Amino acid sequence: MPEKSQTPDEKLQHEFNRWAQEGEGEKMERHHLNITEKTIRLMDLRPGERVLDLGCGSGWATRLLARLVADGPEGFGQVVGVDVSDEMIRQARAASKDFENILYVWGSAQQIPWEENFFDKVLSVESFYYYPDQDRALAELFRVLAPRGRMFILINLYKDNPYSLQWVDKLKVPVHVRSSVEYVELLKKHAFENVEARQIPDDTPTPDDYETKSFRNLDDLRAFKKTGALLLMASKPDLRTPAPGYTIY
Ligand SMILES: C[S@@+](CC[C@H](N)C(=O)[O-])C[C@H]1O[C@@H](n2cnc3c(N)ncnc32)[C@H](O)[C@@H]1O
Repeated sequence: MPEKSQTPDEKLQHEFNRWAQEGEGEKMERHHLNITEKTIRLMDLRPGERVLDLGCGSGWATRLLARLVADGPEGFGQVVGVDVSDEMIRQARAASKDFENILYVWGSAQQIPWEENFFDKVLSVESFYYYPDQDRALAELFRVLAPRGRMFILINLYKDNPYSLQWVDKLKVPVHVRSSVEYVELLKKHAFENVEARQIPDDTPTPDDYETKSFRNLDDLRAFKKTGALLLMASKPDLRTPAPGYTIY
């Protein structure tokens, strides 16, 4: 397809299909596992919950989530992985054949292919800064979350981690670069409650012979990990029991 006629989502699809074909989908588990495990602990998942993994890539985190919400006294939980790259979705499905409680859907954060008020929790790992229209993605997340549902967004590329900024020119698709304070404001603007931002360091060791293409040198990589990813946490208000002062018409 000629590049000129591509929509922003088609550009993302094209680029992340390339990543998937080059084996990057699987490799990202190594890079994101430490910060994702720490985030999953904060998600306090229960058997029976319905979870969305937005920008699920090759589905390794989706499978971690699926194990935690699977069969239990409170029911059979379900995880939906959504990604704009159909090649990532194909790889995720192939790697998840043993799971009965995962469904992978090809689609965009700009128009999440799911019904409203459904998910108890949302996880999104290293995906949010690619979304062409972050306001629209947040409106979509608000729509698909259940009242009192919780959202957990991990972002490695943001202003307060200066070591991450060296990626911007290397990436072949446009990205948003905001600060923690700017992200908190954005989430509040979309009526999310209990909005909180935290830095989640990656404490995996970096061996001296590690080869990096993403960072100028290993000192920068180590400093990047020490500063950590930005974790945004927020909840959708319980619209049925508005806080005093709110009126629902
Ligand atoms: C850096 S990868 C991270 C993948 C996975 N979460 C992980 O940690 O391995 C970013 C992912 O976000 C997906 N993505 C980018 N823009 C998207 C959009 N608008 N809607 C849905 N997924 C998107 C990409 O296709 C890609 O799989």
